[in-house]
Amino acid sequence: MWKKLIIAVVLVAFVSVQFASSLTCYSCIDATSCRNPTVQTCTNATANASSLWLSTYLNDVPVVAGSQSFMCTNLTYYTGPQIPPTASIGPNNTVTSQFLGCAHPDIRICARTLTDPEARATWNSHCGVCYTDNCNFDGPAGTFSSSAYTIIGSIAALLLAKVLS
Ligand SMILES: *[C@@H]1O[C@H](CO)[C@@H](O)[C@H](O)[C@H]1NC(C)=O
Ligand SMILES: *[C@@H]1O[C@H](CO)[C@@H](O)[C@H](O)[C@H]1NC(C)=O
Ligand SMILES: *[C@@H]1O[C@H](CO)[C@@H](O)[C@H](O)[C@H]1NC(C)=O
Ligand SMILES: *[C@@H]1O[C@H](CO)[C@@H](O)[C@H](O)[C@H]1NC(C)=O
Repeated sequence: MWKKLIIAVVLVAFVSVQFASSLTCYSCIDATSCRNPTVQTCTNATANASSLWLSTYLNDVPVVAGSQSFMCTNLTYYTGPQIPPTASIGPNNTVTSQFLGCAHPDIRICARTLTDPEARATWNSHCGVCYTDNCNFDGPAGTFSSSAYTIIGSIAALLLAKVLS
């Protein structure tokens, strides 16, 4: 019984650490650097840097003093045929602007508009936000959702149930 309890406690601690540790996101600031994004840890400082960069081409990016939690973003502008919200840029699209990185949730990145009127009239936008480590990457599995979080959670619950049974 004690052994089971200890295993359960360790398991719960492990899972909590996973969720409590700070978020990391892919980071890049234009179409070129986004071919090879780096990974950044979300802090007030990195989210501030995102706000600063985004405010160079987006309207009304609010100044946020600080956030308790952050989100990963992928804000892509492109020309050419319109792609569905979950699809990737196709062969006939040109990426005109791209940003990946940590952000303050309160800047509501997907609600912002382009400052340049010409770009605003002609570019399509694709904007995604997500809340798990490195989730702002459209890999082959299309991880742009909370699916990773859900899967980790279910596995932990299963293990826990097994240990306690
Ligand atoms: C982030 O920006 C806000 C608003 O400008 C500022 O008050 C705060 O000190 C900055 N935080 C960091 C860690 O740079
Ligand atoms: C960010 O700054 C705010 C206050 O401006 C603070 O309450 C918050 O804990 C900070 N977030 C992190 C993750 O350090
Ligand atoms: C891209 O454009 C070519 C030539 O107009 C067309 O044949 C092709 O079907 C287009 N591909 C997609 C994915 O839209
Ligand atoms: C960002 O979103 C665009 C549009 O869906 C996608 O083509 C691109 O692959 C995404 N970037 C990354 C690094 O996943």
